[in-house]
Parts: sequence; structure tokens; C-alpha cells
Amino acid sequence: MSSYHIKNLEEYYKVYRKSIREPELFWEEIAEEHFNWHKKWDKVLSWDFKKPEVKWFDGAKLNITENCIDRHLRTRGNKTAIIFEPNNPDEEALHITYKQLHERVNRLANVLTNKGIKKGDRVCIYLPMIPELAVSVLACARIGAIHSVVFAGFSATALATRINDSGCKMVLTSDGSYRGNKTIDLKGIVDEALTKCPEVNSVLVVKRIHSEITMLAGRDNWLQPLLNEASATYEPEIMNAEDPLFILYTSGSTGNPKGMVHTTAGYMVYTAYTFKNVFNYKEDDIYWCTADIGWITGHSYIIYGPLANGATTVMFEGVPSYPDYGRFWKIVEKHKVSQFYTAPTAIRALAKEKLDYVDQYNLSSLKVLGTVGEPINEEAWHWYNDNIGKKKSPIVDTWWQTETGGILISPIPYVTPTIPTFACLPLPGVQPCLMDENGKEIKTNQVDGRLCIKYPWPSMARTIWGDHQRYKETYFSAYKNTYFTGDGALRDTVGYYRITGRVDDVIIVSGHNLGTAPIEDAINEHPAVAESAIVGFPDDIRGNALYGFVILKETGKDRKQENLRKEINQLITEHVGPIAKLKKIQFTSGLPKTRSGKIMRRILRKIACNETEHLGDTSTLLNPEVVQEIIGHVL
Ligand code: PRX
Repeated sequence: MSSYHIKNLEEYYKVYRKSIREPELFWEEIAEEHFNWHKKWDKVLSWDFKKPEVKWFDGAKLNITENCIDRHLRTRGNKTAIIFEPNNPDEEALHITYKQLHERVNRLANVLTNKGIKKGDRVCIYLPMIPELAVSVLACARIGAIHSVVFAGFSATALATRINDSGCKMVLTSDGSYRGNKTIDLKGIVDEALTKCPEVNSVLVVKRIHSEITMLAGRDNWLQPLLNEASATYEPEIMNAEDPLFILYTSGSTGNPKGMVHTTAGYMVYTAYTFKNVFNYKEDDIYWCTADIGWITGHSYIIYGPLANGATTVMFEGVPSYPDYGRFWKIVEKHKVSQFYTAPTAIRALAKEKLDYVDQYNLSSLKVLGTVGEPINEEAWHWYNDNIGKKKSPIVDTWWQTETGGILISPIPYVTPTIPTFACLPLPGVQPCLMDENGKEIKTNQVDGRLCIKYPWPSMARTIWGDHQRYKETYFSAYKNTYFTGDGALRDTVGYYRITGRVDDVIIVSGHNLGTAPIEDAINEHPAVAESAIVGFPDDIRGNALYGFVILKETGKDRKQENLRKEINQLITEHVGPIAKLKKIQFTSGLPKTRSGKIMRRILRKIACNETEHLGDTSTLLNPEVVQEIIGHVL
């Protein structure tokens, strides 16, 4: 018998030891007891980090939606699977039962099939946080199409890049979206993106905001009439364990975003198991993760993990500040939320407001609080613990990545004693290690180093879509035979991990991963800009904000700097999205470069963070004199 739900610390250590000693047996027992398979696997795990190639449950046959929906129908058919809480608090919340979800997914699966989408085709989903988003994801999985959800805050250019990179044939979108008191013209963004995407021949449009939009004959269809005509039954496509389930893009240090490919069986087993344990999920709980399904957190812990456990999962369309800063807590009271999972940036933003926004609501239903996406600072941790959890709900600071598919390091609530700012211990099956600057593993405690994982776990991304070489170089080349996370971490005397942040050029702003390259490309589009470099610097609410150093061409030097700043941010909004706007823009005559011409971001980062006493040796730069100039004009 496997231990699917860990109940105390002694059991955790026992289970953990087993998962390391006999990883295949450990995962096999969980897979066997808790999921439906059309055929069992030939081999639990085969792996080679040199290639790299990892296969879990190879040879097994399944459909993930049968595990997330159909198998609950007999016992939980009338249980709510999804609670949809609309942006407007006066609009009624929707409770979608497992039976209804089944029907909705089947209808859409039929529509997709009728439109010619087949197993292995890529479908882009660009939708706001409305039920159709979850239904679209599941309908793709039901027919074996590979979903590629693009966060509906990304611009037309960012959307087009992602559609083309994965060769999507179809886009699912809506007329528009609500965001607080604003509306966003999503269909307009899609139309603009598709001028650059010749392979897309079908767009299905959900009516959400009832705005006037143009529909292109032969390409665009309103979704609802097609659903009405479609059958409510659909035999799921039987997939191989290692068939791709989805592609999800994440930023890299350089170049275009990387389409991380997640496969079916391992992802399902791991997200289900970790959901159960990290959130201590019990049958009648109401679980709410505030992330957007456009990010991995939403994929794994709004849709797949919760539904695989037959849970009730909340989808919230709105923002924490609308109609006022009490919205989150109002929703917790209204739906009697038991587990609440959000990002530190949201906690910091809400902690700045009057406590009245919290205190007027009854939060006694809460049992577990979670955070994800960036390090949480002590002050925010205590505010969350004191005011939201009332010191009785454990906080799980969950560390993981788009690439890891599921949570790897986290406390287990009511099991692991927590320390503020520490993600604490690896979950069963996860073997983290710290590496020193010379690529050697640090075996002792009370140290910091670069965080790596030295053994495969079931939900790890298998490749980067269309670029396996990049996958190898990014994750498996820095250290021999080890997955490199890109994060720094320290390990304390008892083996608890604290994640200290990225050690590469990825910048996390409000919990969103931003790579420097697409933003710098957008800045460089400006006709007056010769070159640019961006770095992160601390921001009270967003964790980090962006600081841009920009070299102007001769023609730009007479222009008003304030106007240029606005135009640059406008370009970034158009090319990447508003989340990537720069908070500070400093114009300079040069950027510090190595003799091989590489921009020394380390120096720029120190300058932006006001840490100029510790710049280190700058004499080896190609142009050391520029450093003093930049320091002299820092904003
Ligand atoms: O730097 C780490 C940070 O977020 C990165 C992964 O970002 P993304 O792929 O967008 O996935 C976010 C949601 C899983 C990591 O490399 N990060 C994530 N969780 C934490 C964190 N940093 C510190 N503490 C965390 N709990």
C-alpha cells in the first residue's frame, strides 16, 4: 500500500526515504492505486540526463480527462468541480458539477474534432479566467490535442510568437475580457496576432463581454452555437504515457520564450499526489488558487491536480483590488474556502491596505495558506500568517517552476514545522542538491549554492518544443548529470531549503518570469534607440521592478526624455505586454561590456540596486569609464 496522504513528520521521513531508496516502486504504487489506466506501463522509469531523456510509465495507456472527470461521475457526479467567481461581484457565481463539466468538455471535444483537430495537433488557448478556459484545456486533452495556453495579458506580438513556435492550427479566444473596471479587447489582439500566423485556419470565440467585434468569414466562429449542436458524449482518445499533454511558454535568460513540453502520465500522477499532500485536501474542502490558468500554477493546481482528486476548485475572473481591496477575503467567506493559494506580490499589495478590508469577513473556513512564484519576505509572511490565517493555518511556501510541472520543495501542512521564508523540505521523490561555483556538489548543511535536482521526478518537462538542444544546454549542461534550476538556495542546519532567487538573467516581477531578451528587443524597436539592457531592482510590492539602461542614437538625443520613456514603455506593452513595462529608464552613452562584447548585467544590477560599493573589479571591461558615468546619473 502506498502512503498517498502523509499525516505526520515521522511518516514524511519514512515515505521520503522510501521514495529515494526505491523511487520506481514508490511511484508505481501511487500510480497503480489512485488512477485509471487502459493499459499498465512496461517500465516505471527510464532516464538519461546526458541526452537528456526521461520516460515515466512508458507503455501505459490512459486519458487524463477520464482520471480528472469520468471516474468521479459515479461517486461525485453532483459534486461541484469548478466554482466560477466572476469579475463583477454582482454577477452570480457558477457551480459546475462533475457531470456538467463532463458534458461541457465532451461538447467542446466534438466541436474541436469537427473542426479537424486531431491527436497531436496544437491548439492555442487565449482566454480570460472563465469556465471555457478550463473546459478548453480539458477538451484538448480529451481528444489528444496539445494545448498551448497563452496568458491573456500578453500582447499580439507575444501571442503570435507563441502560436508560430508551436505551429498551432486553431485559437480559442473570447470577444473580450473583464479586468476590474476595465475591459480588454482580446479578439482584436488575436486578429492582430493572426496577421503573422498563416497556419491558423480556425478561431473559436466565446461571447463574454458582448462587445462589437469583427468576425472573419471562413475562419472565425462563435463557440456557443457550435456547442449547442454538438453531441454531449465523446469517447476519449487513448494516449500513451509519454504523449505530450501541453506546451507552456516560459522566459529564458536569452532568446525567445521556451515552449516547455509536459507529457501525460507522469504529470498527472505527480500533480495529483502533490495537490493532495501540499494542500492537505479533504473531500469537502473548497480549494482556491488565485493564479491565472495562463501560468503553470493554474494548469497544475487549478485544473489537473485538484480535478484528479475529485476536488472543488475555484476560478476567479477578477483582480484583488476590485471593487475594493477586500475582494479576496469576501470570496473566501462567500465560498467558505479551505485552502487559499496566492503569490507573495498579491499579499504585499493587500498588506499595504487597511486591515478593515480583511477584518470585515469571516475567514474561519481557512485551513491552509499557500504562496508561490517568488520568495516571500518575512513581513509579508507574518501579515499573511497573523491576519489571514489567524496564526492557525499553516503557510506552505511552495517552490517550483514551469519546467518542474509540480511543486518540488514545500512544507506539508500540519506535518512540517514551518520557518518564514523557507520552502523547507523536498517532497517525496524529489532529490535536490546544491552546487558550488566549481560545479561540485556541496554535501554539508548551512551553506548556499545553486539549486539542482539530481534525479528525475514524474512531472518534469521532457523537452523544449522544437529545440531539444536548447533544453539540454539550458538545464543539463551547467552541472554534470543534474537538472539545473537557475535558482540559488541555502540549506540550513536541519536541511531546510530557502530559495534566494534567480542566478541568471530571468527577472521575476509580480511573480511573472520575464526574460530580458524580448523586452530589450522591444525597446530597440524604437527608432531613436541604439542599444539597451534591462535589470531588476527591488520593489516593495512587485518583488522586483525593471530598470532599463538605454543608449540613444544621435537622432534621439534632441528628443524630450520623458516622451521617449513613454514611447519605450508603449512599445514594450505592444510587444510583450503591460507586465513588462520599465519603472525606471536611464539614458546613457554606453553599457559596460566584456572584451568579447557581452553586456555585464551584474554591474548594471548592482548600480540599479544602489550597491555600488561592491561592484568588484571593473578594470577588465572593454569600457570601464562608462561605469562611473552610469553611477553618476542613476535614477
Ligand atoms: O525563481 C523561482 C521562482 O519562480 C521561478 C519559476 O517561475 P515560473 O516558471 O514562472 O513558475 C512559477 C510558479 C511555479 C523559480 O525558478 N519561485 C517559484 N516559487 C518560489 C520561487 N522563488 C522563491 N520561493 C518560491 N516559493
